[in-house]
Amino acid sequence: MAELKKPTYQVTGKSFTAVAINTAAKAGEWIKSKLGDISAIDQKTSSRDLVTEVDKGAEKMIRNLIHTHFPTHAILGEEGVEPGPEASIQALQDLSESEFLWIVDPVDGTTNYIHGFPFFCVSLALAHKGEVIVGVVYDPVRDELFVAEKGKGAYMKGKRISVSSEQTLSESLVATGFPGGPGMLERNIAQMLYLVPRVRNIRTSGSAALHLAYVAAGRLSAFWEMNLNSWDIAAGALLIQEAGGRVTDIDGKPFDLSVRHIVAANKHIHDELHTALAQA
Ligand code: IPD
Ligand code: CA
Ligand code: CA
Repeated sequence: MAELKKPTYQVTGKSFTAVAINTAAKAGEWIKSKLGDISAIDQKTSSRDLVTEVDKGAEKMIRNLIHTHFPTHAILGEEGVEPGPEASIQALQDLSESEFLWIVDPVDGTTNYIHGFPFFCVSLALAHKGEVIVGVVYDPVRDELFVAEKGKGAYMKGKRISVSSEQTLSESLVATGFPGGPGMLERNIAQMLYLVPRVRNIRTSGSAALHLAYVAAGRLSAFWEMNLNSWDIAAGALLIQEAGGRVTDIDGKPFDLSVRHIVAANKHIHDELHTALAQA
């Protein structure tokens, strides 16, 4: 007997995606307008983990816009959660039963933003019963908005995007980030040492969400990072899946919202990258 395939959620109306696009664009424009004009910078867990009044203001704006359209939807936003992985994991668990859950990183790449390094974005995802169905990443500096709907592909400026075509790690441009948390940095450095001679090169530009969007657009072959939160990766993961790529955790488990150690790549090199990271 033919195996029954689990039906995947299809976005039927345009309104979820339209609200996601509109919200990310509005927040992104405001964030850009405040660039170089930040007065309050606070430390979260360390001097490597910062928050500004722009992160907080952008999240407030995003929450208001989403709730104007969808007052009953739940929202998980980085600035509404206590710092540290335990609180993030708990906050996600508390909301995981929500029918509709928006997952918001108002500014991904805050360190870059503070320093005026132009690589940061707004990342918004909408999950239906735990499955991401809309993902939007907006880079206000380049005015590039990456959008994906479950089952309907990934787009940038009206054009369909797809992951790169490299067949081996040796011809791949791969990105990562330096994670926080006990033992994470040591593991990441070991991975980098192992990978540098095996790839074309490595980039670490300081915004996980934008790196993932670049993988979806074929500008990077792959991205991995340890100890990320759902708001760093939910939108980017859908973009990559809809652009024909593969997203798992570091143990090879397919992406879901609980993944923190992400490995994302085009389908040709994903296995090779995953194996190399295991050997590092
Ligand atoms: C950070 C960025 C960075 C990654 C960190 C994240 P934030 O997010 O994505 O690239 O290395 O792990 O926390 O704090 O700028 O939103
Ligand atoms: Ca982030
Ligand atoms: Ca952030």
